[in-house]
Amino acid sequence: MKSSHLVKKDLKVVWHPCTQMKDHEKIPMIPIKSGKGVWLYDYDGVKYLDAISSWWVNLFGHSNAYINRSIKNQLSQLEHVLLAGFTHEPAIDLSERLIKLTPSKITKCFFTDNGSSSIDAAMKMSYHYWQNKKKKSKVKFIALSNSYHGETLGSLSVSNIDLYKKTYENILKETIIVESPDSYNKSENISEEKHAEIMFDKMYKTIKKNHRDVCAVIVEPLIQCAGYMRMYHHKYLELLSEACREYNIHLIADEIAVGFGRTGTMFGFQQAKITPDIICLSKGITGGYMTLSTILTTDDIYDAFYDEYEKLNAFLHSHSYTANPIACSAANATLDIFKDKDVIKKNKILSAHMRKCFESLKDHPHVSDVRQKGMVLAIELIKDKKRKVSYDWKERRGIRAYLHGLKNNVLMRPLGNVLYFMPPYVITKKEISFVSEIMKEGVDEATKKNS
Ligand SMILES: Cc1ncc(COP(=O)(O)O)c(C=O)c1O
Repeated sequence: MKSSHLVKKDLKVVWHPCTQMKDHEKIPMIPIKSGKGVWLYDYDGVKYLDAISSWWVNLFGHSNAYINRSIKNQLSQLEHVLLAGFTHEPAIDLSERLIKLTPSKITKCFFTDNGSSSIDAAMKMSYHYWQNKKKKSKVKFIALSNSYHGETLGSLSVSNIDLYKKTYENILKETIIVESPDSYNKSENISEEKHAEIMFDKMYKTIKKNHRDVCAVIVEPLIQCAGYMRMYHHKYLELLSEACREYNIHLIADEIAVGFGRTGTMFGFQQAKITPDIICLSKGITGGYMTLSTILTTDDIYDAFYDEYEKLNAFLHSHSYTANPIACSAANATLDIFKDKDVIKKNKILSAHMRKCFESLKDHPHVSDVRQKGMVLAIELIKDKKRKVSYDWKERRGIRAYLHGLKNNVLMRPLGNVLYFMPPYVITKKEISFVSEIMKEGVDEATKKNS
């Protein structure tokens, strides 16, 4: 009763993100009352296992006792203060700890307040660096096809998914797009590493041709998450890092979705043993509690802005809630858990179990790929496996799986024809097995012949 009352009220006043609101004439809206661990509870007592970590933000479960305590402690001290001219311990601690977790050349932490805004700030920072260095022609960015870096005009400019971008093309900045090294498209007889090497040739040629006009290359390390969870080999990042050095271009690693252990290492770029010039972090940084983002960078970049005020070389970018102390305290608690509970190591056991549970789907007549990196597993549905013909996006097959999940206590939210599993790290093996059963049924539901 309570649920339906809330839904009515909601649909009168709330405009939801990434949603065609008319869909809610048919697709249920689910008001959530509480959460605990991997479970969300609605007002009628129905529970849902959050198999996508609420858009990839939640790491250690909903209403985590340790993070709650940290936030409550902070709340009784200081809720917020501006970060210009003033500072606070949670921001200082967090900066020190993030810097320690990253390669030695990363020495500075600049705070923003959500993923997209950190991408915009990273773009401005890179561009402004080259302006300060008197390399005035460096004004462009290179990004990969199928990339997603956010929804603000800057971050959308360097993204490349038509669904989100095409309508706004006229008001976006032009970006040089290079074909993604996505392993899904590789020929069967070559390795993922070899495929990455072959694909890198296009990037190398683009950099070589355009480097005088380019500030930075921006990539999502290893997984293009919103880009249908497409994955690529870390060799590509290795080669890209070398080429960026060779041609004096910044490398921006957008770790917003893949950072904090999703790919099996703390950060995705670490698998390539590289040091990006700029690293953007958000989402899991607060364990999924609240909005916060940071840009980590080098002394080289920082020093290019460090000057007499009158020279107007400072980076004057700001957000009101920059480094909010409550958000920083959630982030510090999140890092405590990583350290105290040896999370990255323990996740290896969970990710191996995920692999095992979903293995059988490889033989499904309408599954073209079951791919995994660390704690991210994706299943690509296909109409004709032999001829590699995809389902028409208008059939919206993924929604059938979504509805099957809802009916069976699992929250998944497919990306087009791709179902994926990206759980909070507090999930148990038993819960992984449970999700895999429901997702497998979801695959059957989604790929049933139209009646
Ligand atoms: C790789 C990546 N970059 C940037 C963003 C944007 O972050 P936010 O939604 O916090 O603006 C996202 C969001 O999904 C993302 O996956």
